[in-house]
Amino acid sequence: MPRLGVNIDHVATLRQARGGTDPDPLTASVLVELAGADGIVVHLREDRRHIQDRDLRLLRELIRTKLDLEMAATETMAQIALSIKPDMVTLVPEQRQELTTEGGLDVAGHKDRIQQIVAMLHDGGIPVSLFIEPDLAQVKASHRVSADFVELHTGRYANAKRSKEADAEVEAITQAAKLSYKLGMGVNAGHGLDYRNISRLLHIPEIVEYNIGHSIIARAVLVGLDQAVREMKALLR
Ligand code: PXP
Repeated sequence: MPRLGVNIDHVATLRQARGGTDPDPLTASVLVELAGADGIVVHLREDRRHIQDRDLRLLRELIRTKLDLEMAATETMAQIALSIKPDMVTLVPEQRQELTTEGGLDVAGHKDRIQQIVAMLHDGGIPVSLFIEPDLAQVKASHRVSADFVELHTGRYANAKRSKEADAEVEAITQAAKLSYKLGMGVNAGHGLDYRNISRLLHIPEIVEYNIGHSIIARAVLVGLDQAVREMKALLR
């Protein structure tokens, strides 16, 4: 059964909307873990628009499952990761020029810099995942910079309007997952996944973890965080 990582950034977004203390992403992380999630994912953005440095420090102490820190591929962020020691870092694009046309990290176009950040994190004993489009050139580039995992960007699949388009995306994700696995990298997937569109991806055995944020937190507003996480876990099962 694939693992479920829950991205709790939106809880912090709601808190920041009033600049106070509620809702608290720390409390959310406890509830998410109690509901059976396999990991907590947060993105410490360079502009700190949702998750703050303090959240990250406290989450590191609190989390019993796995802390996956999403961050930009910069030295400043790598220094933060090295001091916090998350269980994994996922490098994501934050600036226009590091994006591929679809939205994943352009590893092929920034190999030297990404390799340098991966090496810094590896020196600190932190495994690294790269958030890339399901594109074979990006998979190969990820392998070349010594990534431990790739996280395949499922946004194009999630946004596909017609079934032919969705079929083509499932095929691209399948091929990228197969090649990543063959090259020895672990395969995660995420972005735009929800209670409906997840089902088709569950047929891809190479995908070992799904990282889901928006749909779970949005459902939690209506049915509660515990139920929202349990429902997604049940689908993965
Ligand atoms: N994976 C990565 C690398 C992301 O950046 C995000 C969005 O923060 C997600 C997964 C989750 O996407 P969504 O909120 O659409 O489920």
